[in-house]
Amino acid sequence: MEKRLITLNVNGIDYELYINPKTLLVEAIRDHIGLTGTKRGCDTVSCGACTVMIDDMSVKSCSILAVQAEGKKITTVEGLEKNGELSPIQKAFLDNGSYQCGFCTPGMLMSASAFLKENEGKDVTEEEIREGIEGNICRCTGYNSIVRAIESVVKGNYKEG
Ligand code: FES
Ligand code: FES
Repeated sequence: MEKRLITLNVNGIDYELYINPKTLLVEAIRDHIGLTGTKRGCDTVSCGACTVMIDDMSVKSCSILAVQAEGKKITTVEGLEKNGELSPIQKAFLDNGSYQCGFCTPGMLMSASAFLKENEGKDVTEEEIREGIEGNICRCTGYNSIVRAIESVVKGNYKEG
């Protein structure tokens, strides 16, 4: 298939890529742009390791083609920190020990970030938090500490910057 020139906006930077139109977004991010924080676990839209945000919604980047993300705002785990400062959810993950092997962590952080944006200012329940990350599988089963971290950001224990 003939290659195409596309522009992807990732973490506020425009990247021009000359790619096969069948390239998945996760491949474009990892192999063409070189942002390897986004992980590739199952390739069958099951594990959530490849989760990124597109226009502030969580999306599994193995589930769409790179060309479908053109013109949208893509955020990967590398884009969560601002001016060298970790985002509230990253700080909360650190403080709560919300990772073991860490393979699922970038995807968890992205789903959690999208959940927090969607529910900003709302009082959410533990059940809603668990629903918010249900598309992400952690083989180490560190769910309780992940939920605690999200809860602590909801409670306002961590501020931006
Ligand atoms: S690699 Fe995309 S959901 Fe597993
Ligand atoms: S921390 Fe190991 S898979 Fe999630």
